[in-house]
Amino acid sequence: MPEKLKVGIVGCGAIARIRHIPAFLKLGGKVTLQAVCDKNASLAREAAARNGVTGVYSDLAQMLAAEKLDIIDICTPPQTHAAITIGAIEAGCHVVLEKPMALSTADCDRMLAIPRRDNQKLCVIHNQLYYPPVLKARKLVADGAIGDFIGMRIFMSDPQDEMIMRKDYWVHQLPGGIIGETGPHPIYKSIAFIGPVANVKVSARRRLEHPWAPFDEFRIDLEGQRGYSSIVISYSSHRRASTIDILGTEGALHLDLLSMLLIHHRKNTKMEPLNLALTSLGNAAQIVSGVTRNAFSLLTGGEFYGHNTIIKEFVSSIENNTEPPITGEDGRETTRALEMVVTKLRQKYGIK
Ligand SMILES: NC(=O)c1ccc[n+]([C@@H]2O[C@H](COP(=O)([O-])OP(=O)(O)OC[C@H]3O[C@@H](n4cnc5c(N)ncnc54)[C@H](O)[C@@H]3O)[C@@H](O)[C@H]2O)c1
Repeated sequence: MPEKLKVGIVGCGAIARIRHIPAFLKLGGKVTLQAVCDKNASLAREAAARNGVTGVYSDLAQMLAAEKLDIIDICTPPQTHAAITIGAIEAGCHVVLEKPMALSTADCDRMLAIPRRDNQKLCVIHNQLYYPPVLKARKLVADGAIGDFIGMRIFMSDPQDEMIMRKDYWVHQLPGGIIGETGPHPIYKSIAFIGPVANVKVSARRRLEHPWAPFDEFRIDLEGQRGYSSIVISYSSHRRASTIDILGTEGALHLDLLSMLLIHHRKNTKMEPLNLALTSLGNAAQIVSGVTRNAFSLLTGGEFYGHNTIIKEFVSSIENNTEPPITGEDGRETTRALEMVVTKLRQKYGIK
């Protein structure tokens, strides 16, 4: 039997606990969770105790020196991604890391330039690309089901208590502030449809009282090689929302990523009562069948949030020496577009 790949987790905060550690544990036959590391030693000890891990560290260099690890999984804030990735690759490890790949395109280039003597894989977690409705939309668009792709819009709202009102949260120290944390999600989802980003336009404002963050409302337009994406990101309400609309020459798709539903609107040019009734019935039927599918998937342990699939495919890419599901180059393209957004914010509003 081939030896199991030994995994070390760096950063034992929210995303490691909720998504990464469970995703590796699910692959128990192929990997061993060998060590955990957090600069907050008590978080590392808790993660180790909860998951029966023997190696516990508060310093990455010590973990790399003491353990013979095959995979480093980086779940730390973005400010640390470049240095940790470079250290892990130099130590001969495969790396999977959370979005955004890094704070700047220059950092991504440094990460990509490190020689991978043992053909190590580098994979970035762009998990929302693997949400079931997003996977389905990508296939429908690729198959021409809505004709030629024209453009899309994305609406995201994060409840104000979750991030913007938390004064000492690291997200406010990112370039451009909080947009550096959530922004990668709508950007990589846009790139999947519009292709590489050539131009951006940005508007932002502050509605709430939080002197530590310059903005809580963002409107971003991306112009890609294949079309446009208009993004609304709000941090100032109490509502969580996440939707995508995609328009083609012969139809449209509406995705609700909270209820994981997709409605396929066919070509429709008439504004008549019968047409309205048939459209409403058709939408209702798609919602009911989507809810039924999701309920079945929930009951049978199906995957909704992408991490399990990406981590499983990343491990397969190591076993089979193939390309990981999201490459370092994909991570770089998202970071490059995010950097364009932040540069526009700085030019327009004079923020740091
Ligand atoms: N894909 C998603 O859906 C998703 C969701 C949330 C967060 N994230 C991303 O995951 C990453 C972590 O976010 P989080 O919400 O888990 O943050 P968190 O603050 O909950 O956890 C981060 C942990 O990293 C530790 N840490 C920081 N620097 C370290 C270092 N140099 N060495 C060791 N440990 C260190 C901190 O002590 C902390 O415990 C970020 O890049 C974030 O953008 C992704």
